[in-house]
Amino acid sequence: MERMWSTGTEPNAFAALPAGAVGRFGGWLMARTNRRQQEQVLGRAAVAEGERVLEVGHGPGVLLQLLAARTPAGEIVGVDPSAEMRAAATARNAPAVASGRIGVAEGTASATGQPDAAFDLVIAVNNVAIWPDLAAGAAELARVLRPGGRLLVSWHGGTAPTRMMRALMLPEDKLTQIAEALAGRFRSVSRLRTERCELFLAEGPR
Ligand SMILES: C[S@@+](CC[C@H](N)C(=O)[O-])C[C@H]1O[C@@H](n2cnc3c(N)ncnc32)[C@H](O)[C@@H]1O
Repeated sequence: MERMWSTGTEPNAFAALPAGAVGRFGGWLMARTNRRQQEQVLGRAAVAEGERVLEVGHGPGVLLQLLAARTPAGEIVGVDPSAEMRAAATARNAPAVASGRIGVAEGTASATGQPDAAFDLVIAVNNVAIWPDLAAGAAELARVLRPGGRLLVSWHGGTAPTRMMRALMLPEDKLTQIAEALAGRFRSVSRLRTERCELFLAEGPR
């Protein structure tokens, strides 16, 4: 298994790369504990009518659900390497998946399986630290974003993280590494903190 760039360790089967019963429990827990964070990311997404949105590493599919329920997005695609999370996201969003508004497929940040310049907005919440290769992830997300499209990358943190999130926060040097990797592939990279998020916003691709 590939190691995470941020720690040099392999992703665990609980939440980083959910697998088996422990992964299904991890997904159940994430759906409850990360919801506020998803809402805060959505609050910065400014999704316009009919926009095509890609979420990488969707986990249990809460943000896919919010995108479908609260925005005028057109097609919404989620990719995740975990079969357990694809099943959870599909079950959570069953009507929208059945109607074709939400598509769920196997993929990672560095291999989304999506066409070039296909999306107006690409979002990655709580998985950038898990990617094996930060530069490869940035390059792939830039490839699938249309010229002038928006990128939102979020990790645990913000101005009022919960106790559980505090344990997952990244040190400043790692946050800088993320900003630098994105700046290599996207324009106008900026960083901000919401209550629960470290958030990177960018336009792209370069
Ligand atoms: C901590 S969970 C976060 C799930 C969800 N986005 C949330 O915030 O609740 C991490 C997710 O990233 C996925 N993941 C693992 N490796 C990945 C990679 N290389 N690229 C994209 N997603 C990945 C996992 O399968 C898992 O669903």
